[in-house]
Amino acid sequence: MRAKLVAGNWKMNGSLAGNQALLNAALPALASVRGADFAVCVPFPYLAQVQQALRGQKVALGAQDVCQFEGGAYTGGVSAAMVAEFGCRYAIVGHSERRSVFGDTDEVVAEKFAAVMQHGMTPILCVGETLAEREGGVTETVVARQLEAIVKRSGIAALGKSVIAYEPVWAIGTGRTATPEQAQAVHAYLRTRVAAVDPRLADQVPILYGGSVKAGNAAQLFAMADVDGGLIGGASLVADEFIAICRAAAGAKDKVTI
Ligand code: PGA
Repeated sequence: MRAKLVAGNWKMNGSLAGNQALLNAALPALASVRGADFAVCVPFPYLAQVQQALRGQKVALGAQDVCQFEGGAYTGGVSAAMVAEFGCRYAIVGHSERRSVFGDTDEVVAEKFAAVMQHGMTPILCVGETLAEREGGVTETVVARQLEAIVKRSGIAALGKSVIAYEPVWAIGTGRTATPEQAQAVHAYLRTRVAAVDPRLADQVPILYGGSVKAGNAAQLFAMADVDGGLIGGASLVADEFIAICRAAAGAKDKVTI
């Protein structure tokens, strides 16, 4: 059985005091939750603070991005080697905000994915379609293309050591969650794409859902057969919401197949 994972994506939010308060509220509650893995992906300046706060806890640390280059004259860049030094287990690559606001192409995302792997961390690869793409009926084409760029650069075996996050762009931060059936359909499609190359690996790779996951809808989403947890934005900034979502993942045992 695939392990479930809930990863908080704090995005560009937080402060030293606010982070501490959030972790003080969430960590004691999460310490006793068995049956799923948890992580928080925090802004670069807070890696050291959160690394310290997570010592001895079962919540892992992640970064939200890395630079595709190893090092050198890249003003403002933060390399995979740097975030690895702070004990990051995960780094998100290809988040739709990076793709749309900062212009990360499929090829750049593939380089970032490779850099994260090279430094011993697990990439959380985000894929997902815009509303126009969904309405145009090209959701599968889009996510397949995003996945293919990774396989072309790093090979299918590398994908097996990653986490995929399906995040429909129209559901991110909008309050408009994909229905469990919509999520399941794309998750199953992604798994089929991987299975076409390596069935055993397809069975192992966790596929998270992201996009307006809240305490109120997490359990239904996590109950779907191919939904292995969530990548949580806004709700990961509210301790009670995040705790409830983590508990929902830990309790999502009875899988629904459609
Ligand atoms: P959201 O963000 O939960 O605020 O919709 C999810 C994400 O972008 O990872």
